[in-house]
Amino acid sequence: MAKPAKKTKKSGADLKWFTRDRFGMFIHWGTYALAARHEWVKQNEEMDTKTYNKYFKHFDPDLYNPREWARLASNAGMKYFVITTKHHEGFCLWDSEYTKYKATNTPYGKDLLKPMVDAFREEGMRVGFYHSLIDWHHPKYGIDRIHPLRNDKKARAKDKPKIKEYAEYLHNQTKELLTQFGPIDLLWYDFSYPGKDGKGKDDWQSEKLVKLIRKLQPDIVLNNRLNLPGTPDFVTPEQYQPYCTPTDEKGRPLIWEGCQTLSGSWGYYRDEFTWKSVPQLLGMLIDGVSKGGNLLLNVGPTGRGEIDYRAQETLKGMGEWMRYNSRSIYGCGSAPKNCTTPQDCRLTYNRKKKRLYVHLLAWPFKDLHMMKMAGKVEYAQLLHDASEVKMEEATGRNRNLHAHMRGQVPAGTLTLKLPVVKPKHVEIPVVELFLK
Ligand code: GLC
Repeated sequence: MAKPAKKTKKSGADLKWFTRDRFGMFIHWGTYALAARHEWVKQNEEMDTKTYNKYFKHFDPDLYNPREWARLASNAGMKYFVITTKHHEGFCLWDSEYTKYKATNTPYGKDLLKPMVDAFREEGMRVGFYHSLIDWHHPKYGIDRIHPLRNDKKARAKDKPKIKEYAEYLHNQTKELLTQFGPIDLLWYDFSYPGKDGKGKDDWQSEKLVKLIRKLQPDIVLNNRLNLPGTPDFVTPEQYQPYCTPTDEKGRPLIWEGCQTLSGSWGYYRDEFTWKSVPQLLGMLIDGVSKGGNLLLNVGPTGRGEIDYRAQETLKGMGEWMRYNSRSIYGCGSAPKNCTTPQDCRLTYNRKKKRLYVHLLAWPFKDLHMMKMAGKVEYAQLLHDASEVKMEEATGRNRNLHAHMRGQVPAGTLTLKLPVVKPKHVEIPVVELFLK
């Protein structure tokens, strides 16, 4: 039996919901939505703060309706969301007491965060805050190797960083976020880049920060980007599909959440065209759960405050699949070790219910063989319509002398007898096996 991943530390974090819910929405939203060419546009184009300010001056998301966002997420089968309270540009979505660079001072003039938190909570979703450690607006942050002005010699000469002051700002804003919006389920800091001309745990005062977080919200689930080994509740592979379950140095499985974009950018990017397809994304979700992980799937709303049509269509497509098949996702993780995965398939497993889910990424011709599973399954059905799937068990007795020439299956194999034609309207069909 596959053991569930352990808490990496006795942090008191409530990981039950996190490892059950599996699927969340990441939202990257800030003034970079107006540039519409990546949330790193300020650094990519080496803009100074004065130039970049045009986005702040024109930020007016008049169509913003977080209830629509929340409904879209929930209909897609997502159970939690993580919003960029502040990204690297430094712009804050809430009415922070510690800066003027915030939503309430844009033409829009209102706090964006509170209504979002309320809307998602009303939809029954968990609340997560992404918060950027990096800040390209704060005057005391200091120009370093990834700063927009890294190549500007004059700016570097004039720069007077005071990282202690910045750390205080970071801690104060964390306090605001963890005291003004009710219980926050998850905190997602981004990111550390220690070493020469970089920043890490001493700059953020990570240890003190974690203490503060645990004091204010003991249940909160915390990610791993504070450059403080031992503290994270989960790790965050980004923009790639882990080959196997991530482990610690001792080979023990870690709790993990893959974060992925729908296209190649986190922030709204008008002219980006590498959008992933619905079956591809479902495959990523399923593959992740089969390795014991979550998927945090990103949308980058526009400067008008809408989730753009491509993202909407994709999420609707995923929602159609989730409506019928989410049972193979929620509460599931990797399959027991002794189950071998049939060709072109992914297995997920619900330990409590003792149900094994076979996801068919490619539809075979009639027979799906599951090695060493004979005698272990009580009942089998296609998940989307609860139609029985007949089973055959290879006992070895029915094999004649030349069985090997016919490519017959070895004894102990369970064969699922599938219809010849792949069920219509199910991108990735799932067989649900009730184990004995
Ligand atoms: C990276 C990027 C950032 C994005 C994040 C999401 O660290 O800097 O733009 O927010 O990944 O995981």
